[in-house]
Amino acid sequence: NGPAPADLIIFGGTGDLAMRKLLPALYHCDVDGGLAPGTRIIALSRSGLDDADYRGKVDAEVRPALHGSEGWDAFLRRLRHVPVDVTTPEGWAGLAGLLAGHEDRDRVFYLASPPLAFGPFCRGAREAGLVTPGSRVVLEKPLGRDLAGAQAINDEVGAIFDESQIFRIDHYLGKETVQNLLVLRFANSFLEPIWNSRWIDHVQITAAESVGTPGRRGYYDQAGALRDMVQNHLLQLLCLVAMEPPSRNDREAVRDEKVKVLRSLRPVTGADADRFTVRGQYTHGLVDGAEVPGYLDEPDKNPPTDASRRVETFAAVHAEVDNWRWAGVPFFLRSGKRLPSRRSEIVVQFKNVPHAIFPGATPNRLVLRLQPDEGIHLSLMAKEPGAGDIALRPVPLSLSFSDAFSARVPDAYERLLMDVLSGNPTLFMRRDEVEAAWRWIDPIVRRWEGSAALPEPYPAGTSGPAGAHDLLARGGRAWHEEE
Ligand code: BG6
Repeated sequence: NGPAPADLIIFGGTGDLAMRKLLPALYHCDVDGGLAPGTRIIALSRSGLDDADYRGKVDAEVRPALHGSEGWDAFLRRLRHVPVDVTTPEGWAGLAGLLAGHEDRDRVFYLASPPLAFGPFCRGAREAGLVTPGSRVVLEKPLGRDLAGAQAINDEVGAIFDESQIFRIDHYLGKETVQNLLVLRFANSFLEPIWNSRWIDHVQITAAESVGTPGRRGYYDQAGALRDMVQNHLLQLLCLVAMEPPSRNDREAVRDEKVKVLRSLRPVTGADADRFTVRGQYTHGLVDGAEVPGYLDEPDKNPPTDASRRVETFAAVHAEVDNWRWAGVPFFLRSGKRLPSRRSEIVVQFKNVPHAIFPGATPNRLVLRLQPDEGIHLSLMAKEPGAGDIALRPVPLSLSFSDAFSARVPDAYERLLMDVLSGNPTLFMRRDEVEAAWRWIDPIVRRWEGSAALPEPYPAGTSGPAGAHDLLARGGRAWHEEE
């Protein structure tokens, strides 16, 4: 049974996300046979492009960044462009005309737009009679700026689509290593007995980027690293590390376990936020040998404001999961722009042996590398070869996915788009998950916003503000850095 023809409607079809992520991912899905003949990709935007203009734009902007061009022309023929201004009822007529006669198909509305437009879009689509029983809607993050905002969006969208039709995307959940984390934990027997506070000292979750935010001030001043990365991507990773084994690999069982973790997070409120969180902002520095400006001097059509001075481009948090398995095990999360390199990883730091008979043994460490070079690395103690006194050295036991599997590692969006088209929501966030994550983040934001202090500066190209190092150092720990 191959896939059935569907209509995928991208609202924000000329935007950055569509051009950089969605269309390349759809092209690869197409080449791999994931799109049925007749499946259409309908881009909506306010620009007055027609189909040919849009195909030309995609050909010029998307094709050069792809690996290979097999089937490219056939892919282009799937594309349509409809000018839509969601604020006027007339704007919908063109789309309605294109969809007429295809009511029996699966219909996916992908909202790659700022969240304020989610409600108006959904209402407009319903009023134009476009929401069919086989419709789904995909919501891109950020879902609001706080709990109340997220609830308002969920209510607006929920008034038109049933929860089972709503796919809230967090593209980190589509990354291969992230899915592999579930397989590693729940398809191997040796880890589960030691996956708890008895054997694990702490967990670190890092999403470091070397890029800055040129041209993104409008969005980033309002978001900052905590809302942009921690509220969603990093908390989702924390859930996958900390969750109890679900009874089945199905949509509700996995999400039920994740939401229990979010609800077990110890609240970081009031003065605790000063002690357990760190925020920073990059200043001018050197990244990969090139001089780059500080956040306030990034080129942008919007000049910096007070909000720019206050926004964090780096956030670190010490979180605790208050349950039986994790009592006393800190989870350290950090994410930042303009760090030395792009590196996302989960580090599980084990405790030392209970009784050391060799001097120099360091505790084992499991590193799950999300990017670049997806893989799993376990550091073990081994004896250095040679006669004489036993000398120890940590050696890595490494699994590199690109060496172990010759297949191309698909982009996260490929996996997630295929799941949307086949109606599988397991890797998407349920309403209660998103809201539980905001409930935990809100008090931290409130404390930061109520404080006169500005984020701690760190030069671009360094590993973040000094406070982030102190966050671990006071417990005698240190961040795992590139080796
Ligand atoms: C997005 C953030 O969700 O994730 C961006 O809005 C960030 O600021 C991006 O750059 C990082 O994604 P990835 O897949 O490159 O780690």
